[in-house]
Amino acid sequence: MVIKSLKLKNYRNYDLLDLTLDTQTNIFYGDNAQGKTNILEALYLSGTTKSHRGTKDRDLIQFEHDEAHLETIVIKRGMEYQIDMHLKKNSPKGIAVNKVPIRKASELFGIIHFVFFSPEDLNIIKEGPSGRRRFIDLELSQLDKIYLSNLSSYNRIINQRNSLLKDIDRQHNLVETLDVWDMQLAEYGMKVIESRRNFIRQLNKIISNIHYRLTGGKEHIFLEYESSVGNLSFAQALKKNRERDMRLKSTSVGPHRDDLSFMEGSLDIRKFGSQGQQRTAALSLKLSEIELVRMLIKDTPVLLLDDVLSELDKHRQNYLLDSIHDIQTVITCTGLDEFVNHRFSINKIFHVKNGQVAEEN
Ligand SMILES: Nc1ncnc2c1ncn2[C@@H]1O[C@H](COP(=O)(O)OP(=O)(O)O)[C@@H](O)[C@H]1O
Ligand SMILES: [Mg+2]
Repeated sequence: MVIKSLKLKNYRNYDLLDLTLDTQTNIFYGDNAQGKTNILEALYLSGTTKSHRGTKDRDLIQFEHDEAHLETIVIKRGMEYQIDMHLKKNSPKGIAVNKVPIRKASELFGIIHFVFFSPEDLNIIKEGPSGRRRFIDLELSQLDKIYLSNLSSYNRIINQRNSLLKDIDRQHNLVETLDVWDMQLAEYGMKVIESRRNFIRQLNKIISNIHYRLTGGKEHIFLEYESSVGNLSFAQALKKNRERDMRLKSTSVGPHRDDLSFMEGSLDIRKFGSQGQQRTAALSLKLSEIELVRMLIKDTPVLLLDDVLSELDKHRQNYLLDSIHDIQTVITCTGLDEFVNHRFSINKIFHVKNGQVAEEN
C-alpha cells in the first residue's frame, strides 16, 4: 500500500497543503518547528484517527480556526481509497471513505497501516513501562479490531471500577457491586493479555535474528511479556488484591500495569543494559515491528521516520537505511547530510519552512 497524496486545510501550522508523494522514499527537511512532524502526524491520523503524539483534535486545528480538513489518497492492491477527515473544535470528527461517511473509527482500519518511528522510541527500553504498553497497544490496535474493542472496554470498566473504589470509601455497602465489575474486567482483561502475549510471541521469532545481525553476532535478545497478574487468573488476582485496591482506591493488577522485558541471556536490558545496548534493542524492536506487520497484513505498511537518523550512529543508520526497501517511507530530518555518503536512493525531497512545503529536484 502507498499513499499517493495528502491535502491539508487549517491543520496545525498549515493553511493549505497539497502534496504528491513518491511510492518509495520521501524526505522532508527543514529547521525545527517548521512543520515536518505535523505532516507525519497528519498521515498517521488519516490511517488511525489518532495523533501519534496523543494530541486532542481541537489542538490539531490551526489556531484561530474552528475546523480542519485532511484528504488522503491511498492506493492498495490497485484500488484507490480517498479518506476525508473533518476535525471540529467542539464535536467528534467526521470521517468518510470514498465519500461515504463511516460511523465507527474502526471501519477505517485496514485501509492503510503505518509504522511510526520517532526519537522517543529509542528510549522505550530505558524508560518506564507505560511507553512499552503504548507500543504494544498502538500496533495491536492497528492490526486487530477485536483487540481495539476489548482494550477500550477494559479501559472503560477500569475507570468505572476505580471511581467505585473511591465511592466505597464513603458508602461502604457499594462493595457488593464490585463483583459485577470484577467479572467484566476479568473477561476483557484476559483477552487483552492473551492478544498481547501472542503478539510478543510473534515478535520474538523475528527480533532475535535482527538483533543478532545488528550487534554483529554478539547479542541474543528475547522478549518476555510480564503480567502483573502473575500465575493467577486475572479474576483470582483481583480478588486477592481487593483489600489493597480499596485502600489505594485504584486497581493494582491488570494489563494496565503489565510490562515487556528485554532479556539478553539472563540480563534484563531495561535495568542493567548500557544506554547503547538499550537503544540498539529499541531499534531492533522497531525493525521487527515492520517485518511482523508486513507478514501479518501481507502487504507493506508505510514507514514514517521522524528525525531518527540523526539520533543513530553511522553503523545503525546504515543498518536502518539498508533495511528499507520496497516500502514507502516518509523521512523527516533537519539536513540532508545524513544521506550524502549513503547509496540509499531518495525519490523525492521536500523543503519545509514555516508551514510551506516546496518540492526540490
Ligand atoms: N494548532 C496549531 N495551529 C497552528 N500552529 C501550530 C499548531 N500546533 C502546532 N503548531 C506549530 O507547528 C510548529 C511545530 O511543528 P512540527 O511539525 O512539530 O515542527 P518540526 O518541523 O520541528 O517537526 C510550531 O511552530 C507550532 O507553533
Ligand atoms: Mg519534529
